[in-house]
Amino acid sequence: MATTGTPDYRDQGLVFPEGFVFGSATASYQIEGAVREDGRGPSIWDTFSHTPGRVVNGDTGDVACDHYHRADADLDLMKDLGLDAYRFSIAWPRIQPTGSGAVNRAGLEFYSRLVDGLLARGITPVATLYHWDLPQALEDANGWVNRDTAYRFAEYAALAAEALGDRVQTWTTLNEPWCTAYLGYGSGAHAPGRTSGADALAAVHHLNLAHGLAVPEIRRAARNAPDVSITLNLHVIRGDDDDDTSPEAIRRIDALANRAFLSPLLQGRYDADLLEDTAAVTDWAFVRDGDAAQIHQPIDVLGVNYYSTVTVRMWDGVAPRKNADGHQGAAGSPWPGSEHVEFLEQPGPYTDMGWNIAPDGLEELLVSLRERCPEQPLMVTENGAAFPDRVVETDAGRRVPDAARVDYLNRHVTAAHRAIARGVDLRGYYVWSLLDNFEWGYGYTKRFGIVRVDYETQERILKDSARWFQELIATRTTP
Ligand code: FCB
Repeated sequence: MATTGTPDYRDQGLVFPEGFVFGSATASYQIEGAVREDGRGPSIWDTFSHTPGRVVNGDTGDVACDHYHRADADLDLMKDLGLDAYRFSIAWPRIQPTGSGAVNRAGLEFYSRLVDGLLARGITPVATLYHWDLPQALEDANGWVNRDTAYRFAEYAALAAEALGDRVQTWTTLNEPWCTAYLGYGSGAHAPGRTSGADALAAVHHLNLAHGLAVPEIRRAARNAPDVSITLNLHVIRGDDDDDTSPEAIRRIDALANRAFLSPLLQGRYDADLLEDTAAVTDWAFVRDGDAAQIHQPIDVLGVNYYSTVTVRMWDGVAPRKNADGHQGAAGSPWPGSEHVEFLEQPGPYTDMGWNIAPDGLEELLVSLRERCPEQPLMVTENGAAFPDRVVETDAGRRVPDAARVDYLNRHVTAAHRAIARGVDLRGYYVWSLLDNFEWGYGYTKRFGIVRVDYETQERILKDSARWFQELIATRTTP
């Protein structure tokens, strides 16, 4: 367990602002299962997970947590935990099985019932439109490398907002477009598993454009003046103090990982150094006049997913190159044009993903965003940790004593509180994840849930971290 000396939040007398939202997050492909039911079309994750060698143990999301059939019980569990809000994602291929055309009513109904179920339990629905399950038919037409996918996404966003836009409070267009573009089309570790730097950068732009086209569609179609947002996995990048190449490496990775999304979103432009760094990979001809302005839409809240940090320097081409960037090894590179940056091992402790535990990085990230966009409200839309849990039998039933996860969450919630104390307009914090689930290329080998899922029986067991979170929610405004 990661012991750190950080006292529990209760012993620190932390008080969260009135209205601060504590929630939990999941994503459709990771929990729903029922991949062939009620007219759902195949997604790139169905294809990818069914391709031998792509996912550890050949795991797929075919059944996952069977949430599609157990939504009511899972909603009761959320209510039990006292969640203020639940961040879920909508599977595009349930709404439009081939990514365009008429709505599949049965698919929509599932989310409509889910939203009603949340509201009936006093839980605020926060819907993400794209958490990586692209309809396979759109990938067959070149996926996010095809500009047309951005227009298809805006249409889908409008359909979803028309149907649920009287009840969903917050809409998130995209979850972590970094992963979609660079892991999906660059390294190949994620679906669709392609490995072209040029395609990855085209995907970056088309994802940004998809967001920019969808935002006004959501505002037009929704009837309850919702908050509109996007969730980014911004990288907290550190240098090697003893290495004078680190500033250059930091600049490059900041350009690719952070500014490739933030600059068009917040300033309506791509930064010159990003275009220069990647000039040998692509000429960026896919950016058309007016695109940057289209992407630059006001958003109500910026979602931030945070897990760990990276440390970089330039590779001298002599010493063995390290790639401790926290992303699964795969055939291609997730860093087009900057493959000669070396990602050094981080100081521990680590989670089961091998990700370093660095709560200060969360505070640093939130404070740096405040400096960059002082008026922009922020939300931590994901934070959490995988650990190899064990189940113990007690007289009171089965328990999962996940002290390391409690410690991780406590330290990060405390870091978020420090950021608030430093003036950051942070509106909420969502634990990743409510349930153990299909962790992408790692299949079911990594457990992130505050609720344990027994995949044989689909039994749910509240881990100690769930009970800790429950108490935090109940006591957060009392010193
Ligand atoms: C994030 C993803 C989420 C989950 C966590 C661990 O990158 O958004 O689906 O896999 O990492």
